Amino acid sequence: MDKVVLITGVSKGLGKALAKKFKEEGFSVCGVSRSIPDFDIDYHIQADLTSKEHIDKVYGLFFKRFNRLDVLINNAGIGLYESWKDAKEEDLRTLCELNFFSYVFMTQKFLDALIETKGFIINVSSVAGKLYVPYMGAYCASKYAINAFSDSLRAELKPYGVHVLNLIVGRINTGFSKRALGSKKPPETPFSGSPEKFAEVVFKAYKKKKREITYPFWYKFFIAFGIVFPDIYDYFALKSWEKAKGKS
Ligand SMILES: NC(=O)c1ccc[n+]([C@@H]2O[C@H](COP(=O)([O-])OP(=O)(O)OC[C@H]3O[C@@H](n4cnc5c(N)ncnc54)[C@H](OP(=O)(O)O)[C@@H]3O)[C@@H](O)[C@H]2O)c1
Repeated sequence: MDKVVLITGVSKGLGKALAKKFKEEGFSVCGVSRSIPDFDIDYHIQADLTSKEHIDKVYGLFFKRFNRLDVLINNAGIGLYESWKDAKEEDLRTLCELNFFSYVFMTQKFLDALIETKGFIINVSSVAGKLYVPYMGAYCASKYAINAFSDSLRAELKPYGVHVLNLIVGRINTGFSKRALGSKKPPETPFSGSPEKFAEVVFKAYKKKKREITYPFWYKFFIAFGIVFPDIYDYFALKSWEKAKGKS
């Protein structure tokens, strides 16, 4: 029987690219999102992952269709561009429900199945989980949390033979910024990666059982610069938001 991958946030962007890549590599693909994908997928479950009841529903429907799970990809996420001063409670809660709790609850729900296949968990984190960005503090906090989740989970699951791959993702053109919560317009980045190349790099990392990868790779230098020179980083980061404000 084919290996089975379950991908959250499958309708667009990185989830869609990952679904296509894993299909190409011979997997049966099950995806979750609120809207229906516009491409061929073996099985789609419509659900809002900010709701625990919907996560329970995903579990039930998944096992009506499949009898095994080999790879869980926690990918669904949303941005929030706002100052801490003005961030709305409702947006902060939505962000944390989706970007953090859905990863945790999906993992807990499917863990026994993954232990059975000695499977794999892939968590989509962000460069913003390694280096804070002003006016994206809440989003950063959710992704810093995912890094801690991935690292501690990987250690805990070693005795069970389940591996965790954490993805440090830089800017990729998916329309993610347009869909973000909050009132601020984000600065543009001169270079960005492609969803298809990202999916290829992730599949290679999965085959090689890597702990963590950064895509695009050059963001490693950007992160290191920000950590070594925080005051210079703060200065330029704030400047870039001022410039973006001027454009809107
Ligand atoms: N693109 C980037 O530059 C970038 C950089 C770093 C990290 N990331 C991370 O990569 C992941 C994917 O981002 P992306 O660029 O592919 O974003 P995207 O194009 O906006 O896609 C987000 C996906 O999540 C789904 N989703 C959103 N809210 C949901 C909800 N409440 N319940 C279920 N599904 C939901 C969306 O589908 P529906 O709207 O149909 O529900 C969509 O399929 C996120 O975790 C993001 O933080 C992205």
